[in-house]
Amino acid sequence: MERQPIIRMVNITKEFPGVKALTDINLEFYQGEVHALLGENGAGKSTLIKIMSGVYQKNTGTMYYEGKECDFENARQALDCGISVIHQELSVIPDLTVAENIYLGREQKQKNRFLDKEAMKKGAQEILDMLGLKIKPTDVVKKLSAAQKQMVEIARAISGNAKVVIMDEPTSSISEHEVEALFKIIEKLKRENVSIIYISHRLKELFEIADKVSILRDGHYIKTIPLSEVNEQKLISLMVGREIKTYIDRSDKKIGDPVLELQKVSRRGAFSKVDITVGSGEIVGMAGLIGAGRTEVLRGIFGAEPFDEGKMYLYGEEVHIKCPKQAIQKGIGLVPEDRRTQGVMLKKSVKDNITLSSVKGKAKHGFINKAWESKSSQNYINKLAIKTPGGYTITKNLSGGNQQKIVIAKWFLAESKILLLDEPTRGIDVGAKFEIYSLMKEFTQNGGSVLVVSSELPELLGICDRIYVMSEGKITGCLEQHESTEEVIMHLASVN
Ligand SMILES: Nc1ncnc2c1ncn2[C@@H]1O[C@H](COP(=O)(O)OP(=O)(O)OP(=O)(O)O)[C@@H](O)[C@H]1O
Ligand SMILES: [Mg+2]
Repeated sequence: MERQPIIRMVNITKEFPGVKALTDINLEFYQGEVHALLGENGAGKSTLIKIMSGVYQKNTGTMYYEGKECDFENARQALDCGISVIHQELSVIPDLTVAENIYLGREQKQKNRFLDKEAMKKGAQEILDMLGLKIKPTDVVKKLSAAQKQMVEIARAISGNAKVVIMDEPTSSISEHEVEALFKIIEKLKRENVSIIYISHRLKELFEIADKVSILRDGHYIKTIPLSEVNEQKLISLMVGREIKTYIDRSDKKIGDPVLELQKVSRRGAFSKVDITVGSGEIVGMAGLIGAGRTEVLRGIFGAEPFDEGKMYLYGEEVHIKCPKQAIQKGIGLVPEDRRTQGVMLKKSVKDNITLSSVKGKAKHGFINKAWESKSSQNYINKLAIKTPGGYTITKNLSGGNQQKIVIAKWFLAESKILLLDEPTRGIDVGAKFEIYSLMKEFTQNGGSVLVVSSELPELLGICDRIYVMSEGKITGCLEQHESTEEVIMHLASVN
């Protein structure tokens, strides 16, 4: 007997004001299969899975679930039918405990109809163990790290005997170790005949776990292919329809005097005796495993979590930065790792978000220079190909990756002299990555300095003039561009 798809989407179309997000999408998903969705930021991936899971309603077309036509009115209905989702934007509730979040919406009731807290705790503990997570069911979610919150979201999605589990960039904020645990769970779900729909911009991941991949471009369906029949380059060209560069040419770099110098800076429990120098016009990378202390060093420089010990110099003068405001005044900008919660104001317009940190300097006699705002935000919308109907669109309505581009644009515009970038291209498609590298280059050509943390070694190798490697809170090496290789870096990253 021929296999029936568990989900069949037929001629699905979805429009938002000013945007045709999906046009005539036809796709089928099967049980026991990992089916990846791939496409540039704003291609329509999240919109498609939100229609499948009842979050959005389609304009036209038909969805069949287990062979029957169905029209979910809300996410609850879809969940009750066995479709669960890990959303790109975190949806855990900060004030509830881990267990309460995992069971949200389907709390286990005792016979007397009171919540069975003990059963929930026990069930939650089992899932946490399965995911290898060292947090307690009774921990309050707001106290957790970004990665742990993401894992709670994952725990919730897999805890309910779903027939379809949709994962929208589940790995964008978790570490290798947690990714491994997630992949084991995916294998297990697959063996249990669950259908998994997987969205990620990390192409390597797709080759590791997905059986097939469907490509969307600008709201249109392009193609479905088994991963065994393609390579990365082929996927990229299907996705963006053109050649993509993954490095920038630094042959014309002009590196000047040290701009930022750290001498033996430490913060208890995070890093110790870190020495780093960044020159004007220089792009310096920081490599290391997750947890090595790189984010913490950036946060220290920015004054978000000041150093306990050691000295920091800007242009040769010692400074004591105790809060981000002081850092910004001294020309330092930070693009945080956790942009979803620290980076953008979702209810504000694209234009406001981009110009946010610059407006002050441009205001004349206390008035905001509207023409300047519009012009400069439009400039970055073009440069980074931010997909939006216009500068006045509310940021919440943009796709996840396009929201991230806004945070980056904001700091490039904000006349900073030193940019601290923490995983700047996470969640950003391959085409836009190169646009960001180009902006970094332009920034340094104008005398700016960049200190960038990335977990993607090829990225650091492709853009940095020098790379520091950290392991367990200490600098274990510093490599010039010509001596940097993946092997040397990996070796230094695991020194302890
Ligand atoms: N609620 C909304 N209101 C208006 N426009 C929207 C809304 N949700 C999505 N869009 C638009 O629909 C298009 C597709 O967005 P979608 O979020 O599906 O992209 P995506 O493929 O998931 O991208 P990313 O990789 O950046 O997450 C984008 O142009 C986006 O701005
Ligand atoms: Mg998305």
